[in-house]
Amino acid sequence: MRPSPLVACLALAALVGCGTGDLTLEEIDPQAAPAAPTWTAHVRAIMQVHCVACHDPGGQAGAQEGYAYDTCDATKRGWGGLVETVFDTAEMPPGGAMRLQPWEELTLIRWREQGSSCD
Ligand code: HEC
Repeated sequence: MRPSPLVACLALAALVGCGTGDLTLEEIDPQAAPAAPTWTAHVRAIMQVHCVACHDPGGQAGAQEGYAYDTCDATKRGWGGLVETVFDTAEMPPGGAMRLQPWEELTLIRWREQGSSCD
């Protein structure tokens, strides 16, 4: 019997997380993310690693789309798209090679909840 896609996905989620649809925030170890994330210390690095190669003003999918993530202000402006493609549909980054880790997603969400400080 072949494992169902759901089982395979859950098994994968246990290892690396496959999108956020399968892993609720409650299931993420709260200690895994900084309690009070800041742009400079935490968020910028996450966006640099996962998004900015393509989403900066000169990139293939940059500011002309309104989804640049290279600065704090741009990331705040592009937050809606980020939530939609990363948290809701897991469509970005394309191909899934550099999917955000659960602790990174929790970091972004906390940053937002705490007012998206650019410190
Ligand atoms: C390898 C390049 C690449 C990376 C890395 C990447 N993107 Fe994209 N992104 C694109 C391209 C190309 C488009 C435009 C075409 C499309 O929509 O697929 C796009 C489109 C988008 C859009 C517009 C909505 C949409 O679905 O068209 C959003 C929002 C977005 N990306 C967010 C992100 C976020 C957030 C990250 C980091 C977690 C990210 N992207 C990482 C290449 C990338």
